Amino acid sequence: MIVVITGAPGAGKGTQADLLVEKQGFRKISTGDALRRQIKLGTEVGKKASELMSAGKLVPDDVLLDILKAELAATTEEKILLDGYPRNLSQAETLKTLKEQYPVKAALHLDVDSDVLMSRLCGRRTCGNCGASFHVNFSPPKVEGVCDRCGGQLQQRPDDNEEKVRVRLDVYENETKPVLDFYQGEGLYVRVDGNGSTEEVFERISKAIQSL
Ligand code: AP5
Repeated sequence: MIVVITGAPGAGKGTQADLLVEKQGFRKISTGDALRRQIKLGTEVGKKASELMSAGKLVPDDVLLDILKAELAATTEEKILLDGYPRNLSQAETLKTLKEQYPVKAALHLDVDSDVLMSRLCGRRTCGNCGASFHVNFSPPKVEGVCDRCGGQLQQRPDDNEEKVRVRLDVYENETKPVLDFYQGEGLYVRVDGNGSTEEVFERISKAIQSL
């Protein structure tokens, strides 16, 4: 079964997905992480994606479908959290065509006040080695610039600055928000209040998942 986790950039999808993996045995598939791995490896897909991602724009649907299929094929776990897909109506329709093998159980919408998103994203730092995520104010590492988990160097994502975040929020409004209506129509939409501390949000999201 698939649980889609959706919401605006900075809503906390990655943070909550990592907790669900750790505490509830989910396998996370993050299309953003998968694309960043392709960029790091210097593949053709990575080269194509790099410019679009740095600009805050979406990567073409056909590229994403290849990535999704490869990630699903490499997954043996029964509970899959899909973070970052679908991001537009066409991707939502595509995912629906896979329902025999991968039925979507729910689409959890982490709903966060828009004024919070910018500060969450501009303060985010990510480990270049293990991918762990921190925030300079809300969840700082013990030693500035150094990952608590593996000692790797913390970096700022190229799309985490004010200019690019504005583009990403526009893309979210215009292309991703209709996906929420799509799942409402399918009877799969579940809103979760994403404001408050990571722990508070995790409690809400865990309750929402228990009730599925
Ligand atoms: P992706 O990596 O999916 O980025 P995004 O959706 O913009 O989401 P983010 O990862 O930026 O935010 P998040 O909600 O995971 O927040 P996080 O938990 O890290 O995609 C990147 C790009 O890839 C796209 O722009 C596009 O180009 C491409 N792409 C990916 N999928 C695609 C698709 N399907 N189709 C086409 N293109 C695609 O939290 C953010 C910060 O806030 C962190 O520092 C965290 O510590 C902090 N924080 C989180 N929760 C809290 C809290 N409760 N309180 C305080 N701080 C918090």
